[in-house]
Amino acid sequence: MKAIPVAENIWWVGAIDWKARYFHGHTYTTKRGTTYNAYLILDEKITLIDAVYGPFTDEMVQRIKSVIPAEKIDTIIANHIEPDHSGAYPELLKLCPKAKFYGSARAGQGLERYYHRKLDFTPVKTGDKLKIGKRTLRFIEIPMIHWPDSMMTYLEEDGVLFSNDAFGQHYATNERFDDEVPRETLMEEAAKYYANILWPFSHLIAQRIDEIEKLGIPIKMIATSHGLSWRKDPAGIIAAYKRWSVHTTVPKIVIVYETMWGSTAKMARKIAEGIADAGVTHEVYDIAQTDRTEVIYDMFEAKGYIVGSSNHDSGVLPNMVSFMEFLKGLHPKKRIGCAFGSYGWSGIAIKKLEETLKESGVEIVQPALSVVYAPDESQLAACYEFGKKMAELVKKG
Ligand code: FEO
Repeated sequence: MKAIPVAENIWWVGAIDWKARYFHGHTYTTKRGTTYNAYLILDEKITLIDAVYGPFTDEMVQRIKSVIPAEKIDTIIANHIEPDHSGAYPELLKLCPKAKFYGSARAGQGLERYYHRKLDFTPVKTGDKLKIGKRTLRFIEIPMIHWPDSMMTYLEEDGVLFSNDAFGQHYATNERFDDEVPRETLMEEAAKYYANILWPFSHLIAQRIDEIEKLGIPIKMIATSHGLSWRKDPAGIIAAYKRWSVHTTVPKIVIVYETMWGSTAKMARKIAEGIADAGVTHEVYDIAQTDRTEVIYDMFEAKGYIVGSSNHDSGVLPNMVSFMEFLKGLHPKKRIGCAFGSYGWSGIAIKKLEETLKESGVEIVQPALSVVYAPDESQLAACYEFGKKMAELVKKG
């Protein structure tokens, strides 16, 4: 396995995880796999920016060795301690035990907690610089994008921003740059990554991008820690992040439901019919049969959410519970929504759905709609009107 040149004396020495189908435990499905990107800078100090997930250490070391003996690494920049970037450190340190680490103060504490060993660690903060020979690294803390320790590193002489998780995508490929893959796929994966991981931190993302722009540093390339790096169009992904971080929406409705005996599904179809006749784009998902990551991606820019469930025991059906908890954690803003469902003798599920939707930050714009056992013709007509009304509200923006 060989290193891939990124710029003069800067090499990609990461790993490609073709088989990954889940990330963050099982919270995120990665249908295109992922990469763990690490970068080697050859200067007076041999510097490694980030590392890879533990099981991929050997792949990273092989790539490093294709350029330079691994024991020559004397500086390691830990932009982020999450194991997909730090997992290789214990093994790597067997090869270069004298390497000095740099990262945020939180990263220093976190690495000790993860790996239960004392590192030669120097905490750095925004504005600090490190000379590594002819080149200068400048550190930019980005706490809570998306962990407290998160940081970016800017290589001044080359204009490369090592952005860690920001601007990344879960996209396994042998290509390394944005101009080498289909733009549509790249943007789909970048948006999916933002929606499922970074969405709750949008207000901070807007602030940090503003701060970085105020630094006036030329960004010729964004070298990410997952997927492709942006050498052709770094401005394009920054513009997309700016748009996403202010919760931009489009007139679209996503219906997500779970059904026990088909009544809630019947309601969902009729609601969708009302939306269709009002001329609004929409999608309908039975969450028990759909990949949550893809549903969240579809909801990312939609203005309207309609959620439904049959009553089950004393609450919502379990797949829908899981979905609603995930949605709540994402804190969608500037969205409108409503709930619906069917029940036999306790309509608590529909009430709970509405409450969770509200707790997630969605504005409830019409009373929940429920039916006992199965909808009759007049109730189906009410479902149709329910969808139509939501569509009219979504059109208003
Ligand atoms: Fe790619 Fe937050 O780890």
